[in-house]
Amino acid sequence: MKKNDNDFHRHSSIDRCTVVELPRHYDAEGSISVVENVDGAPFSVRRVYYLYDVPADTCRGGHSHFALRQLIVAISGSFDVTVDDGARRKTITLNRPYRALYVDTGIWRTIDNFSSGAVCLVLASEPYDESDYVRDYGRFLELTSEKRADK
Ligand code: TYD
Repeated sequence: MKKNDNDFHRHSSIDRCTVVELPRHYDAEGSISVVENVDGAPFSVRRVYYLYDVPADTCRGGHSHFALRQLIVAISGSFDVTVDDGARRKTITLNRPYRALYVDTGIWRTIDNFSSGAVCLVLASEPYDESDYVRDYGRFLELTSEKRADK
């Protein structure tokens, strides 16, 4: 995947950031949810990480990526994910371990409103690579400026 390619931001859309239902297997002994061949999340998982012990009133994220795609799951507790494509934004509350939010390339995301004990699981399409991050919102606005020029 070519890094620093502006197409990832030029054509990004929050419409492709959707919540997908994961299969649930449940009985009296408990539940299992499986992330495998998820419709709407077309990538192979190359990295898994999780956020926990997040203090109340903390805002995580605050970046976009060129190539990285993710699935975000509230394994425990709840939090809000705001996705922004430079022209529009929307906020999704995740509060079920059998729902995953797909976050496409070129999307600025922030995560806040963490409940006590919340655990945020992230399944990622790429290994960790700091050069894939855009951490400056001004630069993100530059990378997505064509969308606003249409208006
Ligand atoms: P960051 O991706 O900015 O976290 P968030 O989006 O959840 O706020 O990462 C925070 C720090 O952790 C940063 O210094 C980089 C480091 N980090 C890794 O070393 N490897 C990883 O896979 C991730 C996700 C972060």
